[in-house]
Amino acid sequence: MGEAGIRRRFTLGLWAREDSTMGNPTFQIAVIQGDGIGVDVIESTRAVLHAAQKRTGGFTLRYQELTAGAGYFRETGRDIAPGAEDAAGKSDAILLGAIGLPAVRHEDGTEIAPHLRLRDRFQLYAGVRPVKAYPNAPQRLADPRAADIDLVVLRESTEGLFYSAATLNRSVVVGDDEVRDILSITRPTTEKLHDFAFTLARKRKARGGKGLVTCVDKANVFRSMAFFRKIFDERAVAFPDIQHGYNYVDAQALDLIRQPWAFDVLVMENMFGDILSDLAGGLVGGMGMASCAEIGDAHALFQPAHGSAPDIMGQDKANPLAAILSGAMLLDYLADKSGVKALSRASELIDSAVDRGFAANRMRPMEFGGDQGTRELTRELLDLMQSG
Ligand SMILES: NC(=O)c1ccc[n+]([C@@H]2O[C@H](COP(=O)([O-])OP(=O)(O)OC[C@H]3O[C@@H](n4cnc5c(N)ncnc54)[C@H](O)[C@@H]3O)[C@@H](O)[C@H]2O)c1
Repeated sequence: MGEAGIRRRFTLGLWAREDSTMGNPTFQIAVIQGDGIGVDVIESTRAVLHAAQKRTGGFTLRYQELTAGAGYFRETGRDIAPGAEDAAGKSDAILLGAIGLPAVRHEDGTEIAPHLRLRDRFQLYAGVRPVKAYPNAPQRLADPRAADIDLVVLRESTEGLFYSAATLNRSVVVGDDEVRDILSITRPTTEKLHDFAFTLARKRKARGGKGLVTCVDKANVFRSMAFFRKIFDERAVAFPDIQHGYNYVDAQALDLIRQPWAFDVLVMENMFGDILSDLAGGLVGGMGMASCAEIGDAHALFQPAHGSAPDIMGQDKANPLAAILSGAMLLDYLADKSGVKALSRASELIDSAVDRGFAANRMRPMEFGGDQGTRELTRELLDLMQSG
């Protein structure tokens, strides 16, 4: 794929006029489109967010575009534009497409990943990755109960094995003979993570969820993991209305194939969450359905869990729903933070349009062998939102 594919932009022409209505609470959104299909899915997400804002009224989103990614690195030798990290920190929320291209690497062989630095810098510890089966979307499991899959992988996103992510420069490198990466579990982050898991299960229970948190670890082998579980038990006491259980990560991989419908919130270390959330995303269609929120105490970043998909970039084939559903979570987050109810209504409008779209077989992404490319699917969703 040439430069044109990487840098290509298309516009739906629907969000160009981000008109601010006088007196509305206004929120500043930092946007990083990044590489490959990140550009396309962010275009779609902004179109959908703009439509939701117009439909519900009562708030205004203002966007600031920031440049980062492998394409930018190849041109400039920098992975993010000067000042962009600070600007992201001043925003109310960050919206990101995807970053990385396999052919663009640092000298040590690792890829361009400034988003990992953003997670670390803004302490975005709670990686929320919902996994939900929609009607008419492919079910990879033959068991009919797969239609009931509705869980969240809560991936700790600042420490664990990613404490040593190359971009953070914390590995122990012994010449050309040995490299040691460190898995770090700290009490303050783990307490907040488990509290987040139980609170999330409580919110989901209020909307008909199971009210169950499962601690996924490897406490039988690693002291760090036994510590993770010990803190889980300590925090569980404060949530007597929520059930809790445990699964070793290897058994959890098995159970995600054998009985994924039995789970609700799965809380785990960073690397385990990285792997199991892709597996779980595959159960309900593919990465194009894998939305993600990364939430800290003062900042939050929303991005699809997928990458830049170089195999389909520049072809209008990407499923934008993971990014769009991440955008709906962004609205929910701003609603929680600000108390502005119109934001929740806008988020529900998007979620319900996706639900209705699948139920009526009007969401047919090419990712699942359907006939809708990125733009066509986005137009259909915008149409559904008009009638929501
Ligand atoms: N957070 C991020 O920005 C992030 C996450 C993962 C990978 N990456 C980077 O992305 C690049 C590609 O990585 P990869 O190929 O391992 O993972 P990927 O998620 O980009 O692609 C994996 C597979 O899923 C498909 N896919 C992904 N998203 C899709 C969508 N929205 N619609 C339809 N199909 C979709 C791709 O076509 C591909 O077949 C690498 O440079 C990697 O480092 C970035």
